[in-house]
Amino acid sequence: MYQISAPVISNAEVMPRVYLLWVEAPEIASDARPGQFVTIRCGEGPNPLLRRPFSIHRTDENKLALLFDVVGQGTEWLANRKAGDILGILGPLGNGFQVGQSTRNLLLVAGGIGIAPMVFLAERAATGGHSVKVIVGAKTASQVYSDIQGAELIQVTEDGSAGEKGMAADVGFTLTEWADQVFACGPGPMYQAMAKSGLGDGKSVQVLLEEVMGCGVGACRGCAIPTKQGMKMVCHDGPVFELRDVAWDRFFSTNG
Ligand SMILES: Cc1cc2nc3c(=O)[nH]c(=O)nc-3n(C[C@H](O)[C@H](O)[C@H](O)COP(=O)(O)OP(=O)(O)OC[C@H]3O[C@@H](n4cnc5c(N)ncnc54)[C@H](O)[C@@H]3O)c2cc1C
Ligand code: FES
Repeated sequence: MYQISAPVISNAEVMPRVYLLWVEAPEIASDARPGQFVTIRCGEGPNPLLRRPFSIHRTDENKLALLFDVVGQGTEWLANRKAGDILGILGPLGNGFQVGQSTRNLLLVAGGIGIAPMVFLAERAATGGHSVKVIVGAKTASQVYSDIQGAELIQVTEDGSAGEKGMAADVGFTLTEWADQVFACGPGPMYQAMAKSGLGDGKSVQVLLEEVMGCGVGACRGCAIPTKQGMKMVCHDGPVFELRDVAWDRFFSTNG
């Protein structure tokens, strides 16, 4: 784990209220694995106090990319950073996705900004000779992210304006036979649907949980979630968990 001052290389709005930010971060970029994250100090003064967590979206030699939705004070501040500005970054953090040795076919299911960590996984796996399908789910066509190399993209929109009409998880179910492993990142309702379907019972389904975090390094227990092996911390034990290991009933009763 490194704590660095990273110069911004570029920051652009690539979809409505979604930014692609590249920073110079050689130490983190060379160490990072798909599914890991960084935390960023999103402000100059005391507010916001807590660093904000973001998945590693891509790496390119010394550079690191993040893809983020503007949802509040911290991400609004981040969206206004320009080339040359310096960011305080800590990472890489967390466990990351685990691709099994015998896995050939990877199915990735992304809901909304859940596409951010999936691009890193898809491109690493495709470069390593795996066959990769990525279901990119969004509300509408303007929110579909499609800059992914080496993988087959399946677009799904809730309003049917691009690709299939429906929800990413529903299309995912139709392809689970093909997949040796399934990886997912998306909002709570997507995981709720996946958990109820029993999808994770017969094969490895790894989900990345984007819990609200305090310290980001296992010290405050602010990100604890219920699992079948007891309470686990998303920042330290995750953010990637096997779908079948999370105690979803208790998870949704405390996380809405
Ligand atoms: C491991 C991990 C990886 C993440 N990766 C990404 C990513 O790649 N791209 C991205 O856009 N976001 C990602 N997030 C979510 C991101 O951290 C939050 O959107 C961000 O912290 C919001 O900060 P803010 O100050 O702008 O919003 P705040 O002012 O803190 O909150 C604004 C609103 O967003 C809600 N909110 C805040 N954090 C979260 C959260 N983690 N999950 C759901 N709702 C939240 C708040 O409840 C509030 O309603 C990730 C979170 C985690 C834990
Ligand atoms: S955020 Fe503090 S323990 Fe996870």
